[in-house]
Amino acid sequence: MIPTGIIGGTGMAQLAGLEIEREERAVTPWGEPSAPLVRGRYAGMPVVFLARHGRDHDIAPHAINYRANVWALRDAGVRRVIAVNAVGGISADCAPGTLVVPDQLIDYSWGRAHSYCDGTAMPLEHVDFTAPYSDTVREWLLWAGAAAGIEPRDGGTYAATQGPRLETAAEIDRLERDGCDIVGMTGMPEAALARELKLEYACCAVVVNWAAGRGGDIHTELEAWVQTGMAAARRLIEAALGAGATS
Ligand code: HPA
Repeated sequence: MIPTGIIGGTGMAQLAGLEIEREERAVTPWGEPSAPLVRGRYAGMPVVFLARHGRDHDIAPHAINYRANVWALRDAGVRRVIAVNAVGGISADCAPGTLVVPDQLIDYSWGRAHSYCDGTAMPLEHVDFTAPYSDTVREWLLWAGAAAGIEPRDGGTYAATQGPRLETAAEIDRLERDGCDIVGMTGMPEAALARELKLEYACCAVVVNWAAGRGGDIHTELEAWVQTGMAAARRLIEAALGAGATS
């Protein structure tokens, strides 16, 4: 059976409950991924887990080798990817603790190696990115969230910022004017690279703080929201996989 890829972000450097079968150090034409790939079973289904920021969470968002990460998952046989990303909430209904399955994104990041189409490993292709996330995986996540009693927010625009610093209040105002609902630092170029490799990819965003200027001190209670939010994300993934992957 084809394994599902899970990319864990802040608060999910390991997937609690994963029955580990083996770990693989992957090497790709783009270098090494953030961490060894962990193969195992989650809710009885085969998965390949990758810690986006490294095992010790010491790789900053702008320093992640996104190309190696996504390539390694594809080489490991993955065709469908659930990306878990911690985010700040901009829209009023994206309070800390909320899970969001975005349907759009705007990329504000810069200077990241963001494509495989460099004329060497892959020919130039202008991939269609009108809808940046896979509808199939999105629907699957939404269904699983409902089944797990979580009811994630269906849709929303993810703003991918450069980090590692957080945003200014004025930057968040601008993102809101642009139509963004949530803000994170790791959503791109990951989603676009997955599209270039024709992977079915969607994001389960976990709101862990109000974005800058949206109330309170960003770091207050953040750790607690990371814990609660990631526990909810795990329940969602468990429900999704438990329901049985179809391919
Ligand atoms: N901004 C950017 N990235 C984030 C945030 C935020 O407020 N919270 C978690 N990741």
